[in-house]
Amino acid sequence: MIAEEVYDLVLDDLFIQLDQLVPGSSVFLKMEGLNPAGSVKLKTAVALVAAAENAGLRFPRTRLIESTSGNLGVALAMVCAAKGYPLTCVTDPNATVRSRRLMAVLGAEVVVIEARDAHGGFLQSRIDYISERLRREPDLYWLNQYANPAGPQAHRDRTGRALVEGLGHIDYAFIGAGTTGTLMGCAEYLRRHSPATRIIAVDAVGSVTFGGPAARRHIPGLGTSRRPEILDTRNLDDIVLISEADSVEMCRTLARERGLLLGGSTGTVLCAVQDAAKKIPEGSVVVAISPDLGDRYLETIYDDAWVAERWPEIVGH
Ligand SMILES: Cc1ncc(COP(=O)(O)O)c(C=O)c1O
Repeated sequence: MIAEEVYDLVLDDLFIQLDQLVPGSSVFLKMEGLNPAGSVKLKTAVALVAAAENAGLRFPRTRLIESTSGNLGVALAMVCAAKGYPLTCVTDPNATVRSRRLMAVLGAEVVVIEARDAHGGFLQSRIDYISERLRREPDLYWLNQYANPAGPQAHRDRTGRALVEGLGHIDYAFIGAGTTGTLMGCAEYLRRHSPATRIIAVDAVGSVTFGGPAARRHIPGLGTSRRPEILDTRNLDDIVLISEADSVEMCRTLARERGLLLGGSTGTVLCAVQDAAKKIPEGSVVVAISPDLGDRYLETIYDDAWVAERWPEIVGH
């Protein structure tokens, strides 16, 4: 593969088999972290910037701004650096220091919002900050991943298609929900091209996306403190909420026992697969999406002191 631009280096046909999670069935984990931006959000970033270009905005006079818990910011910073577009990433203390550093090294302005919103999260505070900047700076354009249909469309045309092309028959698809872009796009593709696939949305306990009560969360990626505009539950067969403690434990176990260093949201999605195992008929084909790898979480979910402070019952496991 020879790419013209760094953001074209997306490998959409990488799966690893994890059959032990559902004995008697085939379980495939789609690895989205093996691209230069390190996450599934590279495809989202390419699509959001292309949509802004197609809207006729003039670059570099137009400056882009986006709210991000980490991975989208890194991916956008990469795309914008390659295209010469100015970018501001509005993030919060849950974004890892490493993600913030990556955004800055790639040339983005990084703003960290410390004030929690009414749900105890940061999303509304980040959006309020952006709204204020937009009022004051007319050349600023908000990509708005929570409402922009370009995100789900990218995952319909790329991620969803790659699932079906890579595996053929799929009985169950487990997909995590942050902005719900990956979930909505894959669900749309699967409904059309693999209608028998059961689509299971996976979210963190404490997220309000599917109407649950808000609670404090520590792992970036999944969950919201404000329902995303692009969410449409029509194509979903089930919704599963997983505690952050279980997600962390799953990640740490897979690192030690399988050599798989995965991001926190992958642990969440795999917990949902494991919890469903008893209800999955033998011989099924199960796929789960792994949005990123674990090296961005060495100071958090793979750090004993950080984990012990939040979930003392886990460390030592
Ligand atoms: C690590 C991780 N997992 C999951 C997601 C959720 O993806 P989406 O926003 O498409 O729902 C994200 C999004 O930023 C992420 O960074």
